[in-house]
Amino acid sequence: MSMKNRTVISQFLLLGLPILPEHQHLFYTLFLAMYLTTILGNLIIIILIILDSHLHTPMYLFLSNLSFSDLCFSSVTMPKLLQNMQSQDTSISYDGCLTQMYFLMVFGDMESFLLVVMAYDRYVAICFPLHYNSIMSPKLCVCLVLLSWVFTMLYSLLHTLLLAKLSFCEDNVIHNFFCDISALLKLACSDIYINELMIFILGGLVIVIPFLLIVVSYIQIVFSILKVSPTRVIHKIFSTCGSHLSVVSLFYGTIIGLYLCPSANNSTVKEIVMAMMYTVVTPMLNPFIYSLRNRDMKEALIRVLYKKKISL
Ligand SMILES: *[C@@H]1O[C@H](CO)[C@@H](O)[C@H](O)[C@H]1NC(C)=O
Repeated sequence: MSMKNRTVISQFLLLGLPILPEHQHLFYTLFLAMYLTTILGNLIIIILIILDSHLHTPMYLFLSNLSFSDLCFSSVTMPKLLQNMQSQDTSISYDGCLTQMYFLMVFGDMESFLLVVMAYDRYVAICFPLHYNSIMSPKLCVCLVLLSWVFTMLYSLLHTLLLAKLSFCEDNVIHNFFCDISALLKLACSDIYINELMIFILGGLVIVIPFLLIVVSYIQIVFSILKVSPTRVIHKIFSTCGSHLSVVSLFYGTIIGLYLCPSANNSTVKEIVMAMMYTVVTPMLNPFIYSLRNRDMKEALIRVLYKKKISL
């Protein structure tokens, strides 16, 4: 394989965050704390769900998959950001950049698919409570999760291969803190028509269709509750789907804010703040959303700790 005639440059420079040098230490500490919180919070959720057999239900198995993909998602960008902030060396190799982009897409889209699968799970639980166990069989759950993984991997691979065909010229400065597909396309000096077309078509497939599916399942849920207890709709929805609804709003709120509300002047800063939101803040908040307002999780924590104490 001759890389020479495809790429002139062998590395990119990640410009990072627009932080003043005197604030560098403060932000380093802040990001490190956020990253450690993400790792710890999501790990606790995964371990709790594995250890406690009361939580071996479809909803919690999907949740542990979500936690796993959150954990990986922030591990794709945060260690590199922290390392760059500390070493003042902001370069990333060509291969490293493409690898980062690939995994960012894999785990980002996985989150989107898992949110749909979880919405479907809530829909079945509320609209067909008596058939829940037969519909959401372990086989179907594994199938849904596996399909999501396979699809998101193929999808990201396609985009990465298409990007690897582009040639890059002398400009290699990325105005962000990770290798994002849109940032890389801006730097390419060959024709990016196919890439943009694919993003438009397939991007719709992994963002818009999941979003519509979630909206449709919530509409079904609302109608089915309206039929049974019209006065207690809000209460019922929040008690059974509150956590899921919060995560969905956080995830799609950021995406919609990023792509549908363009601002003319400070677009770079806005893009970086939004990128910060979905790579750092969302994965950090998900475990809290799911554990703080969830009695099952709290009880499971107590059971697991109590069992450990007895066995000691
Ligand atoms: C993901 O979900 C599947 C299917 O429900 C389950 O078997 C598996 O243990 C989960 N994986 C993780 C890492 O939680």
